[in-house]
Amino acid sequence: MMEVRTHDILIVGAGLAGMRAAVAAAPGLDVAIVSKVHPLRSHSVAAQGGINAAISPKDSWEAHAFDTAKGSGYLGDQDAIEVMCQEGPADILELERLGAIFSRNEQGEIAQRPFGGAGYPRTCYAADRTGHALLHAMYEQLLKKGVFVYEEWYVLSLIVEDRICKGVIAMDVLRGELHAIEAKTVIFATGGYGRVYSSSTNAVINTGDGMSMAYRAGVPLMDMEFVQFHPTTLRETGILITEGARGEGGYLLNTLGDRFMSRYDPQKMELATRDFISRCEQQEIEEGRGVNGCVLLDLRHLGKKKIMERLPQIRQLAISFVGVDPIESPIPVRPGAHYSMGGIRTNAWCETELAGFYAAGECACVSVHGANRLGGNSLLETIVFGRRAGIRASEYVRTVKSVTLSSAPLQAERKKVERLLKHKNGERIGPLREELGAAMTDHLGIFRKRERMEQALRRIRDLRQRYENVYLEDRGKIFNTELTNALELGSLIDLAETIVIGAIAREESRGSHFRTEFPNRNDAGWLKHTLAYCTESGPRLEYAPVTITRFPPAG
Ligand code: FUM
Repeated sequence: MMEVRTHDILIVGAGLAGMRAAVAAAPGLDVAIVSKVHPLRSHSVAAQGGINAAISPKDSWEAHAFDTAKGSGYLGDQDAIEVMCQEGPADILELERLGAIFSRNEQGEIAQRPFGGAGYPRTCYAADRTGHALLHAMYEQLLKKGVFVYEEWYVLSLIVEDRICKGVIAMDVLRGELHAIEAKTVIFATGGYGRVYSSSTNAVINTGDGMSMAYRAGVPLMDMEFVQFHPTTLRETGILITEGARGEGGYLLNTLGDRFMSRYDPQKMELATRDFISRCEQQEIEEGRGVNGCVLLDLRHLGKKKIMERLPQIRQLAISFVGVDPIESPIPVRPGAHYSMGGIRTNAWCETELAGFYAAGECACVSVHGANRLGGNSLLETIVFGRRAGIRASEYVRTVKSVTLSSAPLQAERKKVERLLKHKNGERIGPLREELGAAMTDHLGIFRKRERMEQALRRIRDLRQRYENVYLEDRGKIFNTELTNALELGSLIDLAETIVIGAIAREESRGSHFRTEFPNRNDAGWLKHTLAYCTESGPRLEYAPVTITRFPPAG
């Protein structure tokens, strides 16, 4: 007899999008969250600089939508962008009502700072710990609502029967047992895949499992070639140093002490879009004007008071990880992998092609970010689309009478785990993961070239074969993190392949995807979304039109 747990709505991922979806779900429904970590360890907690919304009377949602569409290289779907920018202000006020402690301006209103690519200072913040403030506020709501959390459970696959999503197979990591969790609807809010690169701002948990599971279940991944490199990450560790530092007035300097952005974009300077600043920094470094593979972020002129009040966390990070106190010296920073613009294809209600299956937050591609995301728009995306996913899933649940599961999906996953555990010798997963990260970092970085990407593809395919024979030393059931790491590596390999195949095919430069052989944007040929479908022989690409409503592509 198969032991089955049952819920109306099952949300995978307990970051801001997942918790917001749970809180938005209709009263009276049985809602549960599965998370591979405690909710407060979800990666949203690491968000620093802020959340965008046009809450000032001097600003407008239309202006926010324009900045977002332009910043996206016009690849964002403007119907979804309009939804996000129009609904964002009310969501911010709701967050405040729910207890989020935002920083204040002198009038006592929610303070806003300038961020890159924005025509108005519309980034609301809580010093440089905005994700921390929001995640805690949302967790309190989760507790208040009594939402059940499967804490430290790792989801292995979606259960799909007759093209309907009916739940997930998950492992209780503490005990090492696999279970079927049945649900009338499943929402993925599983975050990004930054750890496919050897150095990233992302937490170690960001291995793109949700995207990979959806892909294997037949749902297309969209625009995977677009990977954001944040311009200011710490030397060696790649830890994020918030864009808020530049929003507050920080300068970028090269080894000559020049504010080099004045040569690239004299108007916007350090507040140009992230894709552009990252390329400028890389160029400075490659042309010999860097400082040990970095440029310098100078905050000294902001003064101690401002740094302590608005940027206390990054000061501490710089002291702890590079031994530099930004009150006294500039911080060595370099571009680092930060965010996945691509993900599970959804519409603006977070619906996917699979009945009963929704996605929200970084794992989803709605698409509001297109080819390049504006800083501060990802927290907004989690809140707006997390809420919408919860609402729409609640409506869908009422149309489903009951769900019945066969035992086949659970058996299949048990076999997969047994296969991983069966080898008595072979390669360990650590070196494979390092090779994957190096291939992506070396060949799928800020400047991309066909031969180098093809080299990466060969390495990824070789790694996929070698992955079949990996050897796990830990055969135990209790908290076997070597096993979960092996499963995560499987996800990363899937995603790396979709990124590189999409990037090789896209023969133009747009947003974060810069091809040295094709340095210009080509709207005639490439104003279209890439869809990657999973097949036995690797990703099969299709293309889909971009929704343009009010902002025709311009320069
Ligand atoms: O720089 C930052 O604080 C990051 C913000 C974001 O990615 O939205």
